[in-house]
Amino acid sequence: MDFKQSIAGCVEDALNRAFGQAPLTGEEIAQALEVPPDTGLGDYAFPCFKLAKGLRKAPPLIAQQLKAAMDSPFLSRVEAVKGYLNFYIDRALYAREVVETALAQGAAYGGGSEGAGKTVCIDYSSINIAKRFHIGHLSTTMIGHALSQLYRFRGYRVVSINHLGDWGTQFGKMICAYKKWGDRAAVEKGGVDEMVKLYVRFDQESQDDPALADEGRAWFKRIEEGDPEALEIFNWFKSVTLKDAEKVYDILGVKFDSYAGESFYNDKMEPVIQELRDKGLLTQSEGAQVVDLSPYDMPPCLILKKDGATLYATRDLAAAFYRKKTYDFAKCLYVVAYQQSLHFKQLFKVIQLMGYDWYKDMEHVAFGMVSYEGETLSTRKGHVVYLEDLLAEAVKKARAIIDEKSPDLENKDEVARQVGVGAVIFFDLYNNRIKDIDFWWERALNFDGETAPYVQYTHARCCSVLRKAQQGGVQADYQALSDPEAQEVVRLIEQFPGIVTTALERSEPSMITRFSVDLAQAYNKFYYERRILDDDPAVQAARLNLTRATRQLIHTALGLIGIQAPERM
Ligand code: ARG
Repeated sequence: MDFKQSIAGCVEDALNRAFGQAPLTGEEIAQALEVPPDTGLGDYAFPCFKLAKGLRKAPPLIAQQLKAAMDSPFLSRVEAVKGYLNFYIDRALYAREVVETALAQGAAYGGGSEGAGKTVCIDYSSINIAKRFHIGHLSTTMIGHALSQLYRFRGYRVVSINHLGDWGTQFGKMICAYKKWGDRAAVEKGGVDEMVKLYVRFDQESQDDPALADEGRAWFKRIEEGDPEALEIFNWFKSVTLKDAEKVYDILGVKFDSYAGESFYNDKMEPVIQELRDKGLLTQSEGAQVVDLSPYDMPPCLILKKDGATLYATRDLAAAFYRKKTYDFAKCLYVVAYQQSLHFKQLFKVIQLMGYDWYKDMEHVAFGMVSYEGETLSTRKGHVVYLEDLLAEAVKKARAIIDEKSPDLENKDEVARQVGVGAVIFFDLYNNRIKDIDFWWERALNFDGETAPYVQYTHARCCSVLRKAQQGGVQADYQALSDPEAQEVVRLIEQFPGIVTTALERSEPSMITRFSVDLAQAYNKFYYERRILDDDPAVQAARLNLTRATRQLIHTALGLIGIQAPERM
């Protein structure tokens, strides 16, 4: 079912019939088709201006002659207006095509297989060891998760990578602090919080005792040299951090295929550095080794420090080569805050300068900052909002609302979890990713706003309508879906596959979030204006099919962005 394509085919036939030739191919005609700004002018319009020269006729005349030659079973009307040919799709037929296609394809509707045989690496969440997950990490985690789902939906193999921040001198300091004041049981129990306390204490005490810093450095050296004790503690810090993070990932329903982080590339940088050297790309700058990027108006990319230490960029460079070699990716995405834009521009540029074409397949998926009820997150001022706490609070608040609105609901805890967590994710994925977000409870949990609870509620409403309906094997009369309210729902359902495509092209999950709201709003309007459980069984059957398709599509759309849709609320 592709109305645009079918209309293009009919126009091509009409051209042949009217003029004995078709100066444009069906494909070109499809591309030229426009959607008129006003539905009164039809569903699609074909501008005839480009044909004027070849056919040696004025566009209005071409339109007239084409109109006379048009023959299409699914157009209710064709009008020639000035140089345009306007097409009106038969409403009932349109509704039947769209709704039945969506229902026949079920959960696969909107998906595809263009990604078959192709791999996409998505680097997201990428947390830092010994640091807690705060709400600033929500965007990378959920945008990355949504993109993973969208790519899988289109048949790609996705490798989700948590590029752990697990390298740096701070880990030497932490081990030193742990050896001096730490307690294994306390860290096991307190998790990351306990580690952060150790780090803070180290920072404070080393101000009075400079020797401490040397000890910290010595421990870091031991990690670098593979000293067993240092490694044992370091790896244990990692596993404690990951255990904490996994609690949050479980709540969010997020999983990773790889946790290969910065330290994983310790032994993989040397060949890349050698290659940079061989290709004459490394230059000395104040003792450091850099790739000069001044011709591209960028500061140099630091590869080796004066003391020979590697940097964040060196590791990312090695990681890019490792990913290309291991996964042969068709695309490699980095879902990282916009503050790191320059870093990724430099990274991609260096790979290009090394002569690899696949730098074009790499993309920095940048996003804005998150603040909380008007306050920015700042560790120093102590305004940190931890994601785990925020999610727990969301579930609690959702539970209170459910207790009030639906006291008799059976699985209240489960629904409160789906609604609370969904509200947070939805809020995060509602706007264009580059926009900064200010999280407000009142807005996230508003059941009447553009929120997860609103969309979830609409899904539950569809489920309830379908439960109540007596469903016989009656043929649906799609004439019943010719009214503007039903047509709007149909139109949105038809657009969904295209929206998935655009969301992927732009790496913009918010398009799916917005779609879910548009569909819910359109359905609710239809629900209030039309009686679904109508006396005429054929009318009822058509409205129920529309309800069924809506339920399915809300479920699909929310699922793609990582939100569950309860059947009852
Ligand atoms: N751990 C880094 C941070 O928190 C993000 C890493 C992103 N991924 C990457 N390959 N550089 O800022």
